Amino acid sequence: MPGVFFFSWLPTHLLVLLLLLLLKPAWAPMPTGVPLSEPSGAPECPEACVCSVIGQANCSSLALSSVPAGLSWHVHRLLLDHNHLRTLPPTAFEGVRALDLLDLRKNGLRSVHARAFWGLVALQFLDLSDNQLETLAPGTFAPLHALRSLSLAGNRLALLEPSALGALPGLRALSLQDNALSALEPGLLARLPALDSLSLHGNPWACGCALRPLCIWLLSHPSASEAEPLLCTSPGRLTLTPLTALPDDAFQHCTTRLAARDLAVIYALGPVSFLASLAICLVLGFAITTCRARRRHRHRRPATRRPPRPLDLAGSVSIADRESEATPPAQP
Ligand SMILES: *[C@@H]1O[C@H](CO)[C@@H](O)[C@H](O)[C@H]1NC(C)=O
Repeated sequence: MPGVFFFSWLPTHLLVLLLLLLLKPAWAPMPTGVPLSEPSGAPECPEACVCSVIGQANCSSLALSSVPAGLSWHVHRLLLDHNHLRTLPPTAFEGVRALDLLDLRKNGLRSVHARAFWGLVALQFLDLSDNQLETLAPGTFAPLHALRSLSLAGNRLALLEPSALGALPGLRALSLQDNALSALEPGLLARLPALDSLSLHGNPWACGCALRPLCIWLLSHPSASEAEPLLCTSPGRLTLTPLTALPDDAFQHCTTRLAARDLAVIYALGPVSFLASLAICLVLGFAITTCRARRRHRHRRPATRRPPRPLDLAGSVSIADRESEATPPAQP
């Protein structure tokens, strides 16, 4: 009978289904961060952004004031340019750790938290140009081990600490043009061994001692900087002189000032020690020859009678002995 069969069939299968549903969390935990509703292949997309299957989330020009929520972890390219992000909080991109490109141009950014980019270990291209950054905290870019291109052009940076960049072994392009930099810190370029493109135009370069490391770097990497020569803004006598064409004596005062103490030590210690050792030799030599001469003098004239000097104890003894030998004792 079909009716009876149906009713006997239904509860067993419902029971099995119920059991499966109850057991599901135990035997098949879902990876955290993956929304259940996400269709395979197409990344989940925040409202208003345009996402493509290749992993790009285009959220540009949307007047956003914060990083949009609900970005899929599949996103590789995140375009957030032309928005209103004034600040980047710690771990702002926590949910999109697979990013390889991040565009933050023209946001009016004033501050970036030192831990804002934490977790972006695959990021290769970071564009922070045309913002209002004045300083960057130490360690800001340090976690970005895969970074190949960084643009900080069009900000208000007057100082860029080497610690803000950290050691970026793969960084090939760095853009610092149109900022307020007058020099680059000595250690900055030394920690970027792969750098082969450096944009520096539009900065008030002060051609003093602090610019020396940059000039040396530019001379040793002739193809790294732009074709148009970089010009000194100050001091007056060097204004409009190309950085790579600074006269030989431009840094001469830096060397002498830096080594002034060393030079003083070298110039003073050398002759002083020479004269001192010479004097010691002379005094010793004089003392030895005087002693010998005196002894010889005494040996040559043994018979001369002279009263023994009170201090010459050895002399007095020897003279007394000789006298006793020369004159035999009187016999009674
Ligand atoms: C992103 O979207 C904006 C505005 O919709 C558009 O102008 C721009 O061309 C898009 N960018 C890319 C790379 O698709």
